[in-house]
Amino acid sequence: MSNINLSEIKVIKIDIIFKGGLMERNSLMKSVEKDWEKFLLIPISEKLQYFSRDGRIYDCLFAQQLDRDILTHLFKVADVLRKITKNKEGMRFANGLMSHKRSMLYFVQPSTRTFLSFLNACHILGIKTGEIRDTSISSELKGETPEDSVRTFSSYVDLIIMRHPLPNFVEKSAWLMNKTKRPVPIINGGSGKDQHPTQALLDIYTLYRSFNGEIDGKTIAMVGDLKRGRTVRSLSYLMKNYRNMKLIYISPKEFAMEKDILDFLKRHNISYYETDNFEEGIREADAIYMTRIQDEHDKNGESNKVDISAFCLNGNHLNKIKKDSIIMHPLPRRQEISVEVDDDPRAMYWRQERNGMWVRAALISYIFGCDEDILKYK
Ligand code: NCD
Repeated sequence: MSNINLSEIKVIKIDIIFKGGLMERNSLMKSVEKDWEKFLLIPISEKLQYFSRDGRIYDCLFAQQLDRDILTHLFKVADVLRKITKNKEGMRFANGLMSHKRSMLYFVQPSTRTFLSFLNACHILGIKTGEIRDTSISSELKGETPEDSVRTFSSYVDLIIMRHPLPNFVEKSAWLMNKTKRPVPIINGGSGKDQHPTQALLDIYTLYRSFNGEIDGKTIAMVGDLKRGRTVRSLSYLMKNYRNMKLIYISPKEFAMEKDILDFLKRHNISYYETDNFEEGIREADAIYMTRIQDEHDKNGESNKVDISAFCLNGNHLNKIKKDSIIMHPLPRRQEISVEVDDDPRAMYWRQERNGMWVRAALISYIFGCDEDILKYK
């Protein structure tokens, strides 16, 4: 007879159960990962259905989801909303539209504007908001996966707005969420270097407002770090909705636009050219869209090796660009637009920020189906 005592047997048993549970969990996670990898490979045009409900966008993840009709509709809703909320009665009406809803802003990558504009957009519609901006004080520090964290938020709220450094993470969250019994919509507030659809939405809304609704036929120069900037990528996708657009990509060769976007433009017959001659490129543009160097994506200090001084807009350029052009920037800026440009009537970036809040409120109202109430408000 061996002399193993009972408590040892208990420990061995618990260990087996625990390890067994872990193995089961691991193999389950592996099969979910496999499904996800398969899903990721599906062309975006084919998977849009998965992120729509009853013919409208449910999860707003990609700029490719925004077609011309939706854009025009959202511009109208945003225009009405900003007008009616100028007085107390109208604001009270807007505040009542979604006062029964709660949202979570999960912004685990630096953000000032996008965070504040979504926060205020929610508040305009009466949505109560919660936020996580730092994973070091969330349960992710205890080993919870970000996927489990997202699932946890959905237990408490009706909408998740998310910014994440990992490419495709926002899409994966929406994909996982749609498999659960209590999905909530997810809006992409910026993911990795790949997409920033609501920035593109506010950028195109800014073009719409600046050019009295006439976007067709405009020439847009995009300047700076085109390779790693998600805003210029998402905005480029939206060009397919408009006729006779012309794009000028101005950048140092090291930061030229990626091939997948250039292929997209070719497929959709959108005319573009690439140049590293800033002064020449901005001359014929109706809109000059400046961006900063995205050095957070550096692997080997590549940003410091490139001289970007020739890709900066200053007071001397103001009489060389079109009189009725506009100057845009998703912000934050560094030296690529000098402050002396701020007072020029063509500087649109501060208004662009504000446009973001209104058009994001319009998007949220649309996802929840109270957009028509806004349009009907007298
Ligand atoms: C942009 C971003 O986060 O991609 N900022 C923003 O959302 N307004 C651009 C940038 O950070 O350069």
